[in-house]
Amino acid sequence: MPRLDQLIARNTHYSRGDVKRLLRSGAICSPSGEALDDWIEPAALPLTVHVGDQDVVLYDSSHVLQNKPLGCVTALGDRQHAVAYDLLGGAPLLDELRPVGRLDLDTSGLLLWTTDGQLLQRLTHPKRKVPRTYQAALAQPFVPPPPGFTLDDGHQPHITELREIDRSSAHPSLARRDEATLYASITITGGAYHEVRRIFAALGSHVLALCRVSFGRLVLPEDLPPGEYRAVSPEDVLGESPGPACP
Ligand code: URA
Repeated sequence: MPRLDQLIARNTHYSRGDVKRLLRSGAICSPSGEALDDWIEPAALPLTVHVGDQDVVLYDSSHVLQNKPLGCVTALGDRQHAVAYDLLGGAPLLDELRPVGRLDLDTSGLLLWTTDGQLLQRLTHPKRKVPRTYQAALAQPFVPPPPGFTLDDGHQPHITELREIDRSSAHPSLARRDEATLYASITITGGAYHEVRRIFAALGSHVLALCRVSFGRLVLPEDLPPGEYRAVSPEDVLGESPGPACP
């Protein structure tokens, strides 16, 4: 069960020492002025408490679905490029959020952030084979993957679906390119470096624009503009029965 003082320190900019002092002085209570227990039942979270002169919502974990825009890297900080993390201002437990996998600088779309290391491991562990679907604007047609399809570094992509789609049905967050001759949707279960770009290159095409539209059960909402995010629950991410973590 999480401790009240720790929850307050994690969810505010107060240090543990500040929180202890505020608790002793009676400056922390329920919104209706009642004293709070030292330990908080997980089922009671998120919980609104009164700290000093403001209401604070306490979370023990946080999961955020971001529509990563083009031109920023999947990182907490970078010397050269803008970072997707800087667009998460105001998200619960911001300091603890970490990206679940990566999207390239020039890939847009669904990027999940979580404070839960186990959830992160479940979603990225190769054994879990979590499907990721991307839409791509392509410069040329592609050939079907041959049997035993292998990339030049020996990696064998696991493609569960590959099909052409209409430009009109492409996700609004897939950048439109005048030079594109066709659009495609591809679902893979891996997360190797530049995997989708390398797949299309090996199939005789070239990716002009790339957008991740789903990851596991999560789908990129069409009404979530690039750069914005939405909180999601573990059930949204994993469903009812996530199963045991991989060793
Ligand atoms: N494959 C790519 O080539 N780039 C990405 O960002 C994700 C998958």
